[in-house]
Amino acid sequence: MTLREAKLADVEFVADLETAVRPDDARDPVTLKHYWRNPEENAKIERFIGEVGGERVAYAHQRHELWKTPKRFGNITGDLMPAHRTAARIDALFAAMEERSLADGTKTFTAWCWEDDALRTGVVRKRGYIEERRQRFWELDLVANRAKLEAMAAESRAKMREGKIRVLTVDRDTDPEKWKKLWRMSEEAIRDIPTTQPFTETTFDDFMKWMRSPGLREDRIWIARDGDAILGVSILSYPPKRGVVSTDWTGVARAGRGRGIARALKYETVMQAIALGVDRIRTDNDFKNTPILHINETMGYQRRADGIQFMKRA
Ligand SMILES: CC(C)(COP(=O)(O)OP(=O)(O)OC[C@H]1O[C@@H](n2cnc3c(N)ncnc32)[C@H](O)[C@@H]1OP(=O)(O)O)[C@@H](O)C(=O)NCCC(=O)NCCS
Repeated sequence: MTLREAKLADVEFVADLETAVRPDDARDPVTLKHYWRNPEENAKIERFIGEVGGERVAYAHQRHELWKTPKRFGNITGDLMPAHRTAARIDALFAAMEERSLADGTKTFTAWCWEDDALRTGVVRKRGYIEERRQRFWELDLVANRAKLEAMAAESRAKMREGKIRVLTVDRDTDPEKWKKLWRMSEEAIRDIPTTQPFTETTFDDFMKWMRSPGLREDRIWIARDGDAILGVSILSYPPKRGVVSTDWTGVARAGRGRGIARALKYETVMQAIALGVDRIRTDNDFKNTPILHINETMGYQRRADGIQFMKRA
């Protein structure tokens, strides 16, 4: 297998590869292309395609944020089309990416695997990686839970009315400062997600690239307002080509927590998905994030396989 730099024209192949490896977690090529086209200002990413006899069979990358603190985390990944997917080849992709990451100054390698992917977790553990955290993945059946969700949404709406909190989609908000406010609020909330790898700031431009991603629409971004302030946000991403509708982000300003705002926003996204004919949605969150775990469980979300974040000292 030989490696060459990936080009934008390879993005559909990469989405196909990820989908072939895990059909139940299909990757949408349209949103992936948007991500490749709009590089993050605060990160470096190098992407590669693996070829055997001139045929594309693999993808690998190394990504890290531009160093701001002495703790330097570098993300490594690599995988192959099922017919070519052997432990030796996954191992070779990881070795190549670790080398490049190390040359950039990474101190700790990080890698994600599904808990039920024995081939990949086996390779990663053999390379010396240790399990660090888990990401809980969930799915909510909107057909089976419809009546219960409608009742909980009604209760939540009444609570927001009582608390004088306005819940609306961002397109209906007339405040010219709304995007800046939403960005600042999100920046505050993101810092409170339990994590080993500290979050570095997102520039306003990068935030807006995200908000304009093809899976999102202004009339599907739900926000909560208390007078002039934006206190919360919840968003489902609707993949344009394939994949399951999933939460992109839910966050509440520190000043607004514990008042049912996250729950109210999540119910609005759910009610809208039901109205649009969506039959199930997904979400994921850190295994130590108690409030959101509690909300998801009580909404009726059922657990799927966990994602495991592995780490290794470089
Ligand atoms: C997670 C988050 C969005 C919750 O926002 P919120 O508006 O305070 O949430 P709500 O008030 O709607 O609901 C919190 C629920 O969790 C419960 N809860 C809060 N802390 C808890 C704890 N330590 N243990 C158990 N339950 C807890 C509350 O009792 C409430 O349950 P209830 O609705 O059954 O009464 C907010 O804490 C946040 O922005 N965190 C940082 C960003 C984040 O983690 N986002 C989500 C994952 S990406």
